[in-house]
Amino acid sequence: MSIIGIVAIAQNFAIGKDGKLPWHYSADLKFFKETTLQNAVVMGFNTWKSIGKPLPKRLNIVLSRSNSLAHQPNVLLVRSREEVLALAKYLNCDLYIIGGAETYKNFADVIEKWLVTEIPESVADADAFMPHDFLENFNLTDKMQLADVLFVKAFQRK
Ligand SMILES: NC(=O)c1ccc[n+]([C@@H]2O[C@H](COP(=O)([O-])OP(=O)(O)OC[C@H]3O[C@@H](n4cnc5c(N)ncnc54)[C@H](OP(=O)(O)O)[C@@H]3O)[C@@H](O)[C@H]2O)c1
Repeated sequence: MSIIGIVAIAQNFAIGKDGKLPWHYSADLKFFKETTLQNAVVMGFNTWKSIGKPLPKRLNIVLSRSNSLAHQPNVLLVRSREEVLALAKYLNCDLYIIGGAETYKNFADVIEKWLVTEIPESVADADAFMPHDFLENFNLTDKMQLADVLFVKAFQRK
């Protein structure tokens, strides 16, 4: 079991605007799906609302301090980062941290690997960002091309 952050990030470090992804790149959505399938995904409540439904064929772990969720298969509501990490010990799949900004920040110190899609644009008026130094303790290990101008970089903790 590894804890892996997966994020798509614009040139100006933007990751979201008005509760949504401020772009549409089908090659990246396909990469995200293929990578996370059959694993566990952890998301904050805002990202859960933005996706709007459980991601199929994955254990959806949703973080919220206050909100509740209707019971549904393959969705688990958790109240703290500690609960997620306790649960992770019993998983025999990878645990993908899928956002958003608050959730990436929460798990930054336990993420072993990052998969970062470089969105080839800057987003004006974005309201969710990655910290500029989030890859400070990581080494680049791989670079994959998803489409003409779309690349994913893999980073491993030093
Ligand atoms: N570009 C990308 O790859 C990417 C990926 C994912 C999301 N996004 C974007 O990011 C934006 C959302 O990010 P965000 O920072 O607003 O929200 P978020 O991380 O999705 O959700 C934040 C919420 O999660 C809950 N939460 C977070 N940490 C918690 C903890 N330790 N314990 C319990 N609950 C916790 C809280 O919910 P309660 O208020 O219910 O307590 C908090 O308000 C959207 O625009 C989305 O589209 C981008």
